[in-house]
Amino acid sequence: MVTKNSSDSSGIVPTRPSEVRQIILNEHNAIRKQLQDLEKLSNSKDLAALKQAIGNFQKTFREHLQHEEAILWPVIKTVDSWGPVRLAEMNKEHSEQREMIEALSNLKQENITKIIKELVGNLTDDMASEEKEFLNPELLRDDVVSSGFGG
Ligand SMILES: [Fe+2]
Ligand SMILES: [Fe+2]
Repeated sequence: MVTKNSSDSSGIVPTRPSEVRQIILNEHNAIRKQLQDLEKLSNSKDLAALKQAIGNFQKTFREHLQHEEAILWPVIKTVDSWGPVRLAEMNKEHSEQREMIEALSNLKQENITKIIKELVGNLTDDMASEEKEFLNPELLRDDVVSSGFGG
């Protein structure tokens, strides 16, 4: 089920938990691929290409955070009584991730490889725990939200 939303540029936002889950998982997979490429590039001597890749990654990740806030958070909020606790946890994590991502703009050449390696490790772990805690199929079940009878 999709509903129209005039504030969204596509005009359509997903509302089924399973659909939201799949979209976010796809984004995570694309991000994992981009992180691998970034790490490879950080070991090379091609600084111009690395800077460009960092810029692209920042854009992708900022969009991902916004996207989760727009489509995942409303689902998490209503899925059960732990919604507010889960939202607070996600909010804290997004603040930390935004700091990490923006800090990439001021990297010094001498520690670039180390910082990218840390970033890749941190974000990979974050995505794994997000998938386990907030994107697991038991939590994001369509029947709970759409029927209202607790499935
Ligand atoms: Fe997130
Ligand atoms: Fe995420």
